[in-house]
Amino acid sequence: MNRSITNVLFGGFGATITKGDLEIEGEVKPVSPEDTYFILEAASSVVFVPGYGMAVAQAQHTLRELGDILEENGSEIRYAIHPVAGRMPGHMNVLLAEANVPYDKLVEMDDINRTIASVDVCVVIGANDVVNPAARENKNSPIYGMPVINVDQAKTVIVLKRSMAPGFAGIDNNLFYKENTRMLFGDAKSSVEAIVSEFKKS
Ligand code: TAP
Repeated sequence: MNRSITNVLFGGFGATITKGDLEIEGEVKPVSPEDTYFILEAASSVVFVPGYGMAVAQAQHTLRELGDILEENGSEIRYAIHPVAGRMPGHMNVLLAEANVPYDKLVEMDDINRTIASVDVCVVIGANDVVNPAARENKNSPIYGMPVINVDQAKTVIVLKRSMAPGFAGIDNNLFYKENTRMLFGDAKSSVEAIVSEFKKS
């Protein structure tokens, strides 16, 4: 694991590995906005993990609204920021600041990873490479040794993205097949709006 963060994140993505090479086990379990509402409504602690797809969808404003609703519902809310999430340094910080997410709700990767096993729900919003457990689990992966946010170690993970497509690194992600992962397919902004709307109905 002795690789610098710039080395592991910007070098070595040339190889493409297939699902077979990764020996991915498990099945993809889609979830609806309604069921996501029930999962979040019952959660004491929720961590949002944004990535490039949040920027594409411009979902930061509605995400902050969801965070506020969950807080009013009694959940502890944090936003975990990977140093190279998005496409430029500080990308997620800029977008969340634009949406007036309080600075003290932002947590760095190392800090969230220390306590992630006690988190009820990690909501991954358009992030992919920065939450790929192959970085820990698969020595043959081009991202092996890269520091990632270990969302798979939370009790439940909900991943918001449009498809099973890979991210910037072009590799499959076994997070999507884990027992504790649910996939909420769709544009991230529309999906978060749909969850917010479920809370408003209740
Ligand atoms: P990525 O791994 O690139 O994944 C982004 C995901 O967002 C995609 O898998 C895509 O899946 C999803 N997405 C795209 N549009 C969406 C939408 N409208 N709604 C919902 N989801 C959407 O992002 P990451 O996890 O943030 O990782 C960043 C990557 O970029 C790393 O590999 C990093 O090394 C690299 N990089 C970073 C920087 C800096 S400095 N931040 C600079 C250059 C490169 P779907 O298509 O299925 O929706």
